[in-house]
Amino acid sequence: MHKHSSLTTHYSPVKWGIIGCGRIAHRFMQGLNALPGNMLVASYSRRPETVDAFVAQYGGEACSSAEELLASDINAVYIATLPDTHAGYSIKALNAGKHVLCEKPATLNLPQLEEVLTVAKASGLLFMEGMKPPFYPLYQKLKEYLVEDPIGPVGYVRAGSSVADISRDHPNFSLALAGGALMQIGIYEAFLAVDWLGKTEEVQAMGRFSGMEIDMFSIFQTKHKNGYAQLYGGFDLHGKGDALICGTIGHVTIHKNWWNPAKATISYLDGRVVEINEPFTAGGLNYEIQHFVDLMQAGKTESPIISHEMSRQMIAMIDKARKQVGLKYEGE
Ligand SMILES: NC(=O)c1ccc[n+]([C@@H]2O[C@H](COP(=O)([O-])OP(=O)(O)OC[C@H]3O[C@@H](n4cnc5c(N)ncnc54)[C@H](OP(=O)(O)O)[C@@H]3O)[C@@H](O)[C@H]2O)c1
Repeated sequence: MHKHSSLTTHYSPVKWGIIGCGRIAHRFMQGLNALPGNMLVASYSRRPETVDAFVAQYGGEACSSAEELLASDINAVYIATLPDTHAGYSIKALNAGKHVLCEKPATLNLPQLEEVLTVAKASGLLFMEGMKPPFYPLYQKLKEYLVEDPIGPVGYVRAGSSVADISRDHPNFSLALAGGALMQIGIYEAFLAVDWLGKTEEVQAMGRFSGMEIDMFSIFQTKHKNGYAQLYGGFDLHGKGDALICGTIGHVTIHKNWWNPAKATISYLDGRVVEINEPFTAGGLNYEIQHFVDLMQAGKTESPIISHEMSRQMIAMIDKARKQVGLKYEGE
């Protein structure tokens, strides 16, 4: 009998290392554990007690340095430290021959990002910033739906997030750890504006520090190739957390919290209203991880969705807004 070969490609499991075992790393593990074909092999965090507790919960080896982690049998590194160390660890990991998924914001500023991207390009490895919203089922479904039933060319985006109940010892409030509303929250809005309106051409920003070292509340409006955006981020007002995307014959509301999207309403000029509900599972980072793994296995060096150019556009917008608000990080 003639034997048919299987059309399914079987990959060996992706072996992950994690640097920085804090809040988001736990959520990453919730996502990773929901995906077959992935395993956590090694973890490293600045304090041994953090990494020991992490490994006790999720398995794998506890490493006592980033170098030890990078020398272990892993293919991919998830960098989940604070932005002050993202560039340094990304460069180390790429130089050690590992693919890198780095939490947002990928670096402190555009010059740092260019350094990382130069190393990434020379390495031939995959580098992606962990900007999660576009990978959620709702966001993907919305984009597919709008192809079939369009709202016309999009010319305006309004979005924001202000979360007033974050404890004051959170790194968002630390200048040394690159906190601030623009950097920690505004970067999501920067993504949304660039995704729907294209390349940024102008940035106008205002912000207040309210006695803190970082901006507690900032607003920025931006001009893009295809229109305008009005965006905000903050820590001392109770914001609504939704997003509005306006086209010529309809508009979309992505309901709160738009950065973890599960529901959207589309209102058309002709009076029709369409609701899209797509709940997410496993904390929501699973979709971004799966995308990263698919790219790795296809031998790609960047994501077509969170491309290197998208990362450049996002951080360049925050750099310009921070300059106008008057927020500088160490070494700037
Ligand atoms: N994608 C998302 O949905 C999302 C949500 C929240 C945050 N974030 C991003 O994720 C990043 C981390 O935020 P987080 O809320 O997880 O902060 P976090 O809870 O403070 O976690 C950061 C961890 O990094 C470790 N760390 C700090 N400096 C280090 C260093 N030099 N070397 C090794 N480990 C170090 C700390 O561990 P020790 O205990 O060992 O000191 C800490 O546990 C930020 O960039 C943030 O913007 C993303």
